[in-house]
Amino acid sequence: MKPFLTSLFSVLILVALEAPAQERITKYITSAKPDRIVLNLNGDPSTTMAVTWRTDTTVNETVARLSRNLPGVLMADSALAVKGRSEDITGDGVTARFHSVTFTGLAPGTGYAYCVGSGGDASEWFTFRTAEAGAAPFSFLWFGDSQVGPISSYARVIRHAYRSVPEAAFMIFTGDLIDGGYTTKTLDDEWGDWHRAAGFIASEVPVVATPGNHEFYDPIDRQKRDINRYWRPGFTLPENGPAGLEETAYSFDYQGVRFIMVSSDQMLRDEDIARRQTEWVESLLKNNPCKWTVMAFHHPFFSTAARRDNRVVRENLKPLVDRYRVDLVLNGHDHTYARGMMLPEGKTGGGREAGTAYVVSVSGAKQYRQDAEPWWIVGFSNRQFWQAITVDGKRLTYRSYDASGAVADQFTLTRMRNGKNRLGVASATTTK
Ligand SMILES: [Fe+2]
Ligand SMILES: [Fe+2]
Repeated sequence: MKPFLTSLFSVLILVALEAPAQERITKYITSAKPDRIVLNLNGDPSTTMAVTWRTDTTVNETVARLSRNLPGVLMADSALAVKGRSEDITGDGVTARFHSVTFTGLAPGTGYAYCVGSGGDASEWFTFRTAEAGAAPFSFLWFGDSQVGPISSYARVIRHAYRSVPEAAFMIFTGDLIDGGYTTKTLDDEWGDWHRAAGFIASEVPVVATPGNHEFYDPIDRQKRDINRYWRPGFTLPENGPAGLEETAYSFDYQGVRFIMVSSDQMLRDEDIARRQTEWVESLLKNNPCKWTVMAFHHPFFSTAARRDNRVVRENLKPLVDRYRVDLVLNGHDHTYARGMMLPEGKTGGGREAGTAYVVSVSGAKQYRQDAEPWWIVGFSNRQFWQAITVDGKRLTYRSYDASGAVADQFTLTRMRNGKNRLGVASATTTK
């Protein structure tokens, strides 16, 4: 390079280094029109439902309108106006106003319609159904990490799942819903993509989510570990877990099944949080009025690759899973699919003693290599999945579908008189 060009090049580099970093701007600019309208279970699902949405800061009123899901034309003026609270979040080039309303005092087993916002900017009417007051059959969906490629890859998975099980009571997400601003996208872009993929599905089928490690990454400094700034404003999840873990660790009972959502990333990083979450999980398992118990969290006890291990999570929680015979443990993080049946002493369960079903799954484009680890009996890599689980009295039916809609894995658990589960093969193997 000639001396003149060399010095010009150096000056340009210096200018580039010293120029203040330009804040990237989200491609999802806010407006007065509500977007990211998401339902969450919150409290007793037979009487309570929460909704969260986003607008720009010109919208000063946080109001949702609620009606029974009547056959005639619904009018906002004659519906019940329910006020809530809002929170402004600045980042990614915009200030967004997140609104949250909780509907309480609902009738069990009843269809409702709601819309959010007011006047010309009100949303369309969406519908949902409250849970029955006691044990009753139902199905729910479960998704592993959507994380990477929410539009290009995960969108078809959630849409296929909804089309196949439109009556699903809710959707569980076991963390790494988004990547955490790691790529060229802003954090807000990632959430915008995630909501765009789900579309109205998340406005009608409640989201039950717990964070993964990627919801704790700071896009600038990945050593900093705070909950993603859009997590708590963007959802209205239960706050009935250990103090300080609101909306990340929580539980709820749904028609005879106890669900326990654990924040495993915080457990891995902080001994005190690990201890407090473990005590809290034990109190829920010890005083459990439900016939079935499902635990869901991001980091699996047993990984699908030899170099990945979450010892702290396993050592804290597995003794409780064994002692209280948790039926199903749902995890993500490993970006493959694997399912094992495990008895307390570590032997593979089956036949008249199924043990606990441990499943790792993935719904998005990020895929990892899988080792033939001894714990799993079914495993796949380089595929995307969604799961439908039905609980009906003494029987739990589990099916995992790949992105093409083919059944990839299925089993049943049947509760026997001795309190143990018999492992069976689900009868129908239809492609959804
Ligand atoms: Fe993860
Ligand atoms: Fe992940």
